[in-house]
Amino acid sequence: MTTQCDCICDIVRSTSYPSAMRRIDLIEPFRVMQLLERARQLEAQGRHIVHMEIGEPDFPTPAPVVEAARQRLDTGRNFYTPSTGAPELQRALSDWYARTQGLDIDPDRIVITPGTSGAFSLIYAVLLEAGESVLLSDPGYPCQRNFIRLAGGEPLNIPVGPDTRYHLSADLLAANWRQDTRAAVVINPSNPTGTLIDPEELALIGRACAEMDGYLISDEIYHGLTYGVNPPCALQCSDAAHTIVVNGFSKRWAMTGWRVGWVVLPEQLLDAARRVMQNIFIAAPTLSQYAAVAALEADGQVEVMRQAYDERRRYLLEALPGLGFDIVVEPQGAFYIYADVSRLTGDSRSFCWDLLEHAGVAITPGEDFGAYRSAQHVRFSYATSLSELREGISRIGLALAARRH
Ligand SMILES: Cc1ncc(COP(=O)(O)O)c(C=O)c1O
Repeated sequence: MTTQCDCICDIVRSTSYPSAMRRIDLIEPFRVMQLLERARQLEAQGRHIVHMEIGEPDFPTPAPVVEAARQRLDTGRNFYTPSTGAPELQRALSDWYARTQGLDIDPDRIVITPGTSGAFSLIYAVLLEAGESVLLSDPGYPCQRNFIRLAGGEPLNIPVGPDTRYHLSADLLAANWRQDTRAAVVINPSNPTGTLIDPEELALIGRACAEMDGYLISDEIYHGLTYGVNPPCALQCSDAAHTIVVNGFSKRWAMTGWRVGWVVLPEQLLDAARRVMQNIFIAAPTLSQYAAVAALEADGQVEVMRQAYDERRRYLLEALPGLGFDIVVEPQGAFYIYADVSRLTGDSRSFCWDLLEHAGVAITPGEDFGAYRSAQHVRFSYATSLSELREGISRIGLALAARRH
């Protein structure tokens, strides 16, 4: 039987690779966007919809960041920065790592990108030859596999469950690493599950990647949005020559639209990264880079947002199980809860559509995050106010009660 993975290998290895259309056909849509479109239609018809599907902070960007952007704009100096980033931001990030995590990172190893999404395009352009593979968790952040496919690589989606807190493990790496595998990706805390990887396991994964002469790619975009625990940066527990750390300002600093992120690269990848940045992006947005320097000082505002997310998280953790949503591993980060809906349905997609149509509540079906037991899962986002969450929970309760009668 030919699988989608086999297909891409055929395409990229073929000497008569027909056209970019074949590769683009492998890029899946974000299915939840259809749900969101329907939600918008219902809103246009006057219905109120509770949005628990969107993974975007509902807070405005902290005021000092906006002020820094205003001041920069007034200087009139909004030309390109160097391709790898404004030196001021690279230095500020290096200081931030030293101050907050005791890490000594040469600013030159910190490449500033247009969002973390830009960082992933850069990494896979630098790392992958056609047909090479990357290990990912299923469920996981859906864009990740598409970045890999666009670079001509093959995502190897490894089913993960509560036993590994929905993360890859060193054992899973050992069992699935192939000769053509170049890297393994860990998203910590995870999207969609909000769970943290055990620090010792992270160290073991780092070691396994180094032993395979590959890379651990650690997506730390939700660092700082954790509740009761502070996960280590992967660079604190794995070999810098085999570790790539990705992070960005979108989530923790509520700066999604500013499009600024960064990647800490091993020395040996810097030259290639610089050439890709020069050609593909020229540079990340200048205004956003200078605003981001101020973000690194805005600890007070970040803490206010973090506490609000935690309050919402605790509310949902209490409310959901009673309605039939099982939360097997407590999420301790990001703003997501991944719930098992086996007690309620065997088809989470129709379940989510029904909830939207009949209860006016939007949540994301598991299928957006992978294939493994996805029909038995949904993701709740609590990047929305507590009062909206209360309304959502009350509507879901009524809808489920109505189904039982
Ligand atoms: C795990 C993860 N990584 C990366 C991104 C992309 O973020 P950015 O806005 O920095 O491109 C997201 C966005 O939802 C995410 O959830």
